[in-house]
Amino acid sequence: MDPTGKPAPGPNTRLAHGGNRPSDYHGFVNPPVVRASTILFPDSAALKGRSQRYTYGLSGTPTTEALEAALSELEGAAGTILVPSGLAAVTVPLLAFLSAGDHLLMVDCIYGPTRRFANTVLKRLGVEVEYFDPKRAEGIADLIRAETKVVFLEAPGSNTFEMLDIGAAARAARAANAVTMIDNTWATPLHFRPLDHGVDISIHALTKYPSGHSDVLMGSVSANEATYRRLRDTQLTLGINAAPDDVYLVLRGLRSMGVRLDRHAETAMRLAEWLEGHEAVARVLHPALPSFDGHDLWKRQFAGASGLFSIVLRQPHGDPAPFVDALELFGIGWSWGGFESLAVPVDLSDRTLALAPDEGPVVRLQIGLEDFTDLRTDLERGLAALAARQNKNG
Ligand SMILES: Cc1ncc(COP(=O)(O)O)c(C=O)c1O
Repeated sequence: MDPTGKPAPGPNTRLAHGGNRPSDYHGFVNPPVVRASTILFPDSAALKGRSQRYTYGLSGTPTTEALEAALSELEGAAGTILVPSGLAAVTVPLLAFLSAGDHLLMVDCIYGPTRRFANTVLKRLGVEVEYFDPKRAEGIADLIRAETKVVFLEAPGSNTFEMLDIGAAARAARAANAVTMIDNTWATPLHFRPLDHGVDISIHALTKYPSGHSDVLMGSVSANEATYRRLRDTQLTLGINAAPDDVYLVLRGLRSMGVRLDRHAETAMRLAEWLEGHEAVARVLHPALPSFDGHDLWKRQFAGASGLFSIVLRQPHGDPAPFVDALELFGIGWSWGGFESLAVPVDLSDRTLALAPDEGPVVRLQIGLEDFTDLRTDLERGLAALAARQNKNG
């Protein structure tokens, strides 16, 4: 129920209408793309007092506001900021809440560039960075100290999909007055709403499912009441916002994200189940598979899965290249969440606690919107090429 007693709209209804105010724009269904640096004031008093809704392009336009409002509604957030990449959606909140002498506690199965930022820029600024094993997320209280100002999570983990007890980690952080942030990109706000679980800040690479078409980079940071003001002030102080044409593309993608995600998830699950039975595959790392280590944690906290998972090839110290190079439909390239399938060999050499599996190399698969049988045939081709190479070498 919403506060007026009406039943709360379902997720696809929210996606279709969130942030939309056609009556503000003569009935046009979509908001205008407003490109702006200068915004005029009626007189110098208004300029001095900044007494109008829009003041300067950097601090927001009707276009950015529409996407921010849609995302805040989906996340149950007090407010959302937009930034030019998913990586900037990680770095801006970390800069907002950390200072010299602070301690940052970060899960070890983190997106590689997030770790790089923590280990370089944050360390240079005098922040102490400590990683924790995703398996002990419910027991991080004893790692939190007076100087711990941020606990940074990502679930499932990048490339290896470890699940965390997110609520337990957030409770431990809040008890110590630390801000909890999570990279929530994999689940999208349709499958997980971090703020409902005590997390303060939810981060998305909108580049992935919200945009959905591999043609735009953007990030969002949605925050609760306690953290929103400081986050917004930091964004404006750093001089970062998203460009209006890009914002429009993400808003357009968002409207169909629910149906796309259903299709990505369904095909991914069917392929994951099939791959699990394949002799060349040692393990499938997909939280929705009952055989997966963190499956129960996923089931308890998440409402669904998306279309990104990994396989561990049965090939100790082997090279995944023959498999990946034989694929014809799956492209070889970074990113995910778009309409086309992708495969990438995964480098886990930066891990300190959540180490690489020892059965063989890990390949991450982004399952696109193609037909299941075509994708299965392609993967079969790749696995056959791998077996042929192994036979030749062995
Ligand atoms: C989990 C996760 N977070 C953040 C990002 C960064 O997004 P972007 O590519 O928009 O910088 C990525 C990109 O792959 C990602 O996988």
